[in-house]
Amino acid sequence: MENFSFYSPTKFVFGKETESKCGALVKEFGGSKVLIHYGGGSVVRSGLFDRVKKSLIEAGVQFCELGGVTPNPRSGKVYEGIELCKKENVDFILAVGGGSSIDSAKAIAMGVCYDGDFWDFYSGKERPKKALPVGTVLTIAAAGSEGSGDSVITHENGMLKRGASGECIRPKFSILNPQLTTTLPAYQTACGATDIMAHVFERYFTNTTDVQTTDRLCEAVLLSMIEETPKVIKDPNDYQARANIMWAGMVAHNNIVGVGREQDWNSHGIEHELSALYDCAHGAGLAVIMPAWMTYVVDHDVMRFAQMACRVWNCKMDFQNPKKTALEGIAAFRSFLKSIGMPINFSELGAKESDIPYLVKTFGLGETGKTGGFVQLTSKDVENIYRLAL
Ligand code: NZQ
Ligand code: ZN
Repeated sequence: MENFSFYSPTKFVFGKETESKCGALVKEFGGSKVLIHYGGGSVVRSGLFDRVKKSLIEAGVQFCELGGVTPNPRSGKVYEGIELCKKENVDFILAVGGGSSIDSAKAIAMGVCYDGDFWDFYSGKERPKKALPVGTVLTIAAAGSEGSGDSVITHENGMLKRGASGECIRPKFSILNPQLTTTLPAYQTACGATDIMAHVFERYFTNTTDVQTTDRLCEAVLLSMIEETPKVIKDPNDYQARANIMWAGMVAHNNIVGVGREQDWNSHGIEHELSALYDCAHGAGLAVIMPAWMTYVVDHDVMRFAQMACRVWNCKMDFQNPKKTALEGIAAFRSFLKSIGMPINFSELGAKESDIPYLVKTFGLGETGKTGGFVQLTSKDVENIYRLAL
């Protein structure tokens, strides 16, 4: 295991009707004027928005609001939010929604405290050091942004989807009420489940040895997802299954299962080009890319893939031919994705083979660049993975 420091100070308030506590929580973390930031209207239709406002009013907290965050959130809304926060003297941002609203809130939080263009944090020009405090009321188990120090935004100039990371954007608190996720369409639930599993796999596939504790934590999250996801696809109101998935989504991405080990994240980078170009759900893009990536890199460490196959997918180890077991595990993952309604190839996603050169170009490795932790990839490798996903 490698040396690490782990600091995850977000306060999680979990359970039924917990959104009623958001006013008190904002106050606890020093907020007096809040921007409520939300998406395309699901939180208004469900009545959550009114309950959040009621809680803020009861706590004596002032607020203004900015809705309209799109999935794969855009830079334009971030600029709008920064302006509004400055004009209204906002000192706390409350994201109500999914990863997109939370990521947009984080971008605004950084932008308000920075003299330059907020995009500098996403283009890699600057590291974020200061941000307004952010709180969240989560409505979908997926991105893990409720517990992460990450934000992913698409710049409308060039449709580049890029991430920024910094401890200052980790939410101060996150309200996780599984009841709020019962209104999700099955497809969106499945996209979220795929993303959660992908966050674990990005950490599971590592070159670091002697990481049994985090290996087993990863496997526990994956096994729970395999057990619970079909339950909520069948019955969207299964509270206990929703609760397990919601916590899995947080655990999968606040890095508790990834500390002390090298991680990969190439599948995420390769997927982000798809959701930037086609505006598909991130989880759906991952369902297409991640099994292709696994197939492409399996020879790098056949035994690690065989371990996944046996421990996660209950495959029987073939000691004469471990690669056979490894490939069975990847096939089981793909079947699972299909069974929950995910696309598993380019055409099902609505992606086009003729776009592959563009996708490789915007991935940005050029002729000589390499990226990745578990297996280093070149532009040619990225192209091969897109082709495997066809
Ligand atoms: O916009 P509204 O109307 O709220 O509808 C949303 C949206 O259409 C809907 N939805 C959310 N909760 C709902 C609901 N509909 C009915 N009932 C509910 N309870 O679902 C749609 C998707 O919402 P979104 O916020 O986009 O989903 P998700 O949480 O999957 O976020 C995806 C974004 O997060 C990024 C992805 O790249 C993508 O842009 N990621 C962020 C990460 C991070 N910050 O740490 C890590 C991830 O790997 C990921 O890259
Ligand atoms: Zn993800």
